Amino acid sequence: MDLFSRIFLVRWLWLIALLGDGLAVGARPRPNMVFILTDDQDCVLGGMTPMKKTKALLADQGVTFSNAFVSAPLCCPSRSSILTGMYQHNHHVVNNSHSGNCSSTAWQHAHEPHAFPVHLQKVGYTTFFAGKYLNQYGDKKTGGVLHVPQGWNRWYGLVKNSKYYNYTLSVNGKEEKHGDDYGKDYLTDLIANRSLDFLETHKRLAQHTPFFMMLSTPASHSPWNSAPQYEHRYDSVSAPRNGSFNHHGKGKHWLIRQAKTPMANTSVELSDEAFRSRWKTLLSVDDLVERVVKQLSNMGILKSTYIFFMSDNGYHTGQFSLPIDKRQLYEFDIRVPLIVRGPGLKPGQKFEVPVVNIDLAPTFLDLAGVNVSQTEMDGKSLVPLWKSKKADWRTDFLVEYQGEGSCTKVDPYCPRLGPGVAECFPDCVCEDAINNTYACVRTLKQDLNMQYCEFADDESFVEVYNLGPDPHQLNNIVRSVDPKLLVKMNQRLIALQSCKSRSCNTTPQ
Ligand SMILES: *[C@@H]1O[C@H](CO)[C@@H](O)[C@H](O)[C@H]1NC(C)=O
Ligand SMILES: *[C@@H]1O[C@H](CO)[C@@H](O)[C@H](O)[C@H]1NC(C)=O
Ligand SMILES: *[C@@H]1O[C@H](CO)[C@@H](O)[C@H](O)[C@H]1NC(C)=O
Ligand SMILES: *[C@@H]1O[C@H](CO)[C@@H](O)[C@H](O)[C@H]1NC(C)=O
Ligand SMILES: *[C@@H]1O[C@H](CO)[C@@H](O)[C@H](O)[C@H]1NC(C)=O
Ligand SMILES: *[C@@H]1O[C@H](CO)[C@@H](O)[C@H](O)[C@H]1NC(C)=O
Ligand SMILES: *[C@@H]1O[C@H](CO)[C@@H](O)[C@H](O)[C@H]1NC(C)=O
Ligand SMILES: *[C@@H]1O[C@H](CO)[C@@H](O)[C@H](O)[C@H]1NC(C)=O
Repeated sequence: MDLFSRIFLVRWLWLIALLGDGLAVGARPRPNMVFILTDDQDCVLGGMTPMKKTKALLADQGVTFSNAFVSAPLCCPSRSSILTGMYQHNHHVVNNSHSGNCSSTAWQHAHEPHAFPVHLQKVGYTTFFAGKYLNQYGDKKTGGVLHVPQGWNRWYGLVKNSKYYNYTLSVNGKEEKHGDDYGKDYLTDLIANRSLDFLETHKRLAQHTPFFMMLSTPASHSPWNSAPQYEHRYDSVSAPRNGSFNHHGKGKHWLIRQAKTPMANTSVELSDEAFRSRWKTLLSVDDLVERVVKQLSNMGILKSTYIFFMSDNGYHTGQFSLPIDKRQLYEFDIRVPLIVRGPGLKPGQKFEVPVVNIDLAPTFLDLAGVNVSQTEMDGKSLVPLWKSKKADWRTDFLVEYQGEGSCTKVDPYCPRLGPGVAECFPDCVCEDAINNTYACVRTLKQDLNMQYCEFADDESFVEVYNLGPDPHQLNNIVRSVDPKLLVKMNQRLIALQSCKSRSCNTTPQ
């Protein structure tokens, strides 16, 4: 290229940049967004306690939603809700198996093309994903690593469920195998490293287009491999003994009643070991948060970037004598941490309104300038909550769960529990069964803090909690509550179970 052409090219590029800026004047500026999603991190049992840097860099600088929930307390259904903004009865992902639509061909055809990244990409966002996607992602039956979900420009998708070492990634459709060398393979660190690389590249090549990054860590899911420097950090910590720890769930449905109380010592040990191991893995997520925030700050874009932090479901360690898992309707499993910092959010605030995992996708779209009413999403954008004090908000929402009951997992030493039961932990405590299938209305407003749940089991069991006086859900009040209220809650449940987009956010009568 001769000098004249070079000067001409430079001027021309400069003119385009100017025009680009000119076009943005008047239109809504489209912010960058970073979404950090953890796996199985509770908030009721102190799941945020080890994350000191995240508290300082995100919570203290932004907003904590102190009543954030998932609409299904299980990874694949919850992640599918996060991606689509839909309740389980609308996205039809009912468990973590292919047959339950977890990353199934039906999901790939019916819902993946309408997930939030597709909308963001259409309006000009460069999108980046790294980490765990859906539990069955990458399976040969549904396209293997070649299948890169629509909407993502850069894709580092973990094949199958959470792992820290010895895993396979799909790197934009190409297989990349990893071993167990901490410096090369530790997945939480690798997600951080690839995201920093992405930010560098974006700055060089496309700094005038907004970006969206989703960083989806294996922590704090099992197998709980912590970074070597954190291996002994919490050795003397044990699971909290308050609330419903080692408390028999009398008055609750069958599955909870079968748990032995007091728990066997080996079960208590398992709960303690899980509790401290989960905290250790979260220290690497805390480092990830710090590194991403630092990088954004170095690039001068921290103030114009939204950062969201959330988990896909809660967790329990000994509550109602259930050693370890999620999948239950109680607060420890359905509540999650949710923190947002970014433009327009006053530091250190707490928002108390009930927000749900289905609200994330509508929020991302709203921030990008996409009209959410023109999608099929069931959730609501959170943006009006921080734009106006009098935002009209919901007072209740739906929790749905379909019990898993593969017979192959039945512990041969626990034959009494019979068929239809899954996940027997040591000491024959069962954490799930086909008849652990339920739907609940969770109500949260000024004068009412309640939960109403119906089971699809042989007893048509009902559980009702008044969480104001009974925050640990020790007393099922179905027999003493005003029958008129029961009728109302039953009708509300029926309405929510068949709701679709806007009808999911109506105010109950
Ligand atoms: C799987 O998803 C498809 C498409 O949404 C739906 O038709 C089918 O009923 C779902 N399967 C289950 C088991 O829910
Ligand atoms: C990774 O796989 C190797 C080879 O199978 C095995 O020896 C090693 O223990 C595994 N590492 C972890 C952390 O699971
Ligand atoms: C991540 O990057 C850091 C700093 O460059 C390096 O020390 C570490 O080994 C990397 N880890 C992985 C898993 O790539
Ligand atoms: C138990 O106590 C800890 C520490 O005081 C507290 O953070 C936590 O919220 C309590 N948990 C329950 C379930 O009350
Ligand atoms: C269980 O642990 C308690 C307290 O540590 C101890 O007193 C008891 O002897 C143990 N029981 C068994 C059967 O090991
Ligand atoms: C969004 O779409 C709805 C339904 O099509 C329409 O009524 C509304 O005016 C639109 N809002 C904006 C801001 O364009
Ligand atoms: C997942 O859901 C499907 C459809 O309802 C069911 O056939 C399958 O058995 C479920 N998987 C487990 C492990 O329960
Ligand atoms: C739930 O399923 C288990 C295992 O099949 C069975 O033993 C129990 O009777 C069932 N209970 C109810 C209430 O449906």
